[in-house]
Amino acid sequence: MTGLIIAIDGPAASGKSTTAKLVADRLAYTYIDSGAMYRAAALRALRLGIAEGDHEALARSTEGASIELPKRGDGPVLLDGSDVSAEIRTELVTALASVVSTVPGVRRALVRQQRSIGHATDCVMEGRDIGTVVFPDADLKIFLVADLAERARRRLRQMKEQGLLGEDGEDENERLLREFAEDIQARDERDSTREDSPLTKAPDAIELDTTGLSIEQQVEAVVRLAIERGAADRGNEKAVRE
Ligand code: CDP
Repeated sequence: MTGLIIAIDGPAASGKSTTAKLVADRLAYTYIDSGAMYRAAALRALRLGIAEGDHEALARSTEGASIELPKRGDGPVLLDGSDVSAEIRTELVTALASVVSTVPGVRRALVRQQRSIGHATDCVMEGRDIGTVVFPDADLKIFLVADLAERARRRLRQMKEQGLLGEDGEDENERLLREFAEDIQARDERDSTREDSPLTKAPDAIELDTTGLSIEQQVEAVVRLAIERGAADRGNEKAVRE
């Protein structure tokens, strides 16, 4: 049985993860972070010492990977049985994920897994190609965008919250913001121009610019659309159960 599928796509740091997690929570759907799967595939390649250009080995390593995602937003990402939640968010793995994800064999292996999860349950899946390639028939497609400067600020805040950066002075913040903006732009460029499944808005996706929106507003907008497409708002039921 295929459940209801909500696809949330968009460029780096556009608010996909935060939005998708909270929407999944409200609807009591399974949340799938497809980016975490590319990140785990990149980490596995790194551990095995596979060269970036060895596409065959990258595809084989991805096929052989056991990647387990948490069903809700929180919880560990497991790669071959061990918790890699923190390691897949490092700058090194982030950059490598964007390279590894250009390899068709890597994508094929992960898309197969994404489809089998999506077909088994109601889900909110976020990524770059969910509404275009993975689930072209998704019940609702959202394409999130935001200003580059705002996205760099969000990334800085997120990394500080996760304890990945110290509390440095203004000068250091300015430098980091410039660095993040460059990194985000480079990844967007690579994600949008690759041949296999480039980042692009599906013709029937609804674009939502999150630059001036609060998280609550973003989530509310998507939940409202999901309800219009037949999802039930289980937020209240959940609150009663908990
Ligand atoms: O959260 P952030 O936008 O920084 O990245 P992510 O969603 O975790 O994705 C990491 C990388 O995986 C991206 O830069 C993409 O290159 C790749 N990716 C992809 O190609 N297709 C997807 N469906 C999801 C991620």
